[in-house]
Amino acid sequence: MPRILLLHGPNLSQLGSRDPTIYGDATLADVVAAARAEAIGAGAQLDDEQHEGEADLLRRLHLARTDGTDAVVINAGALTHYSFALRDALEMLDVPIVEVHLSNIHAREEFRHTSVTGAVADGIIAGFGIDGYPLAVRAALALLDRRAAAT
Ligand code: DQA
Repeated sequence: MPRILLLHGPNLSQLGSRDPTIYGDATLADVVAAARAEAIGAGAQLDDEQHEGEADLLRRLHLARTDGTDAVVINAGALTHYSFALRDALEMLDVPIVEVHLSNIHAREEFRHTSVTGAVADGIIAGFGIDGYPLAVRAALALLDRRAAAT
């Protein structure tokens, strides 16, 4: 059974009450449940973690190199825009990586238009709110299928 790691970065713990006009009403638990339902429906397992700090996210990604993680779905929050450390940690992984954002980062402030982590992801899904999560899980599983077919 493929194992997907869903990682959330800083401030995403506050979803539900955090600027609902931008991020919607869904809580982090709702978002994770939507992703997990998609994974389970496709015969996959979803592990999820949220960390406020960069170091914890880095440690979890390092662990993902050897713990049987088959794909990563990540919303790194604001770290997306400037964490070269996170980018380097993602780059070390050999598994498919899908970056997801609730909001359309390209339609917002200029500093959000850059994703330093997105450059090492296989693809980015942004702007679909909670619906982006099942899409991200499907994208990760499709990438895994393609890799399996190519070997
Ligand atoms: C976000 C977009 C980021 O710019 C922001 O800092 C977040 C959430 C999103 O999901 O839309 O924390 O990643």
